[in-house]
Amino acid sequence: MDERFAWDPALETGVEQVDRQHRRLFKLASTLSSCSLDENCDEDTVTDAIYGLTEYVTEHFADEETLMEQASYPGLGPHRSRHEQLTADTMRYVARFFNGERVAAEELSEFLADWLAAHIERDDKAFAVWLRER
Ligand SMILES: [Fe+2]
Repeated sequence: MDERFAWDPALETGVEQVDRQHRRLFKLASTLSSCSLDENCDEDTVTDAIYGLTEYVTEHFADEETLMEQASYPGLGPHRSRHEQLTADTMRYVARFFNGERVAAEELSEFLADWLAAHIERDDKAFAVWLRER
């Protein structure tokens, strides 16, 4: 598997549901990346992979925000803003792809893997620590 999309155990937050979804996101990003680089992978398959990834990003963020809401996490506001920013950036890649730029699919998977790792490290772990110490 491409190193960029390999799950790094250092990214575990200790919150079961969150970690499971993060692992799946990296897997989806990896699938999208290898398919977008493979000439034998047809347009429909890349499109499905894009849909699969963007749908799961949205679902994951909503689930995370629900967890934070239920726990009355004081950092929910800024965290939600970062999710919105990431979602908007994701949609820009998706739009480029649908405008005929196939390379946008590869860029999206890389962008997400990088951005997610940074977001997990900084923001999701902060929530996990707060949850444990509460
Ligand atoms: Fe998050």
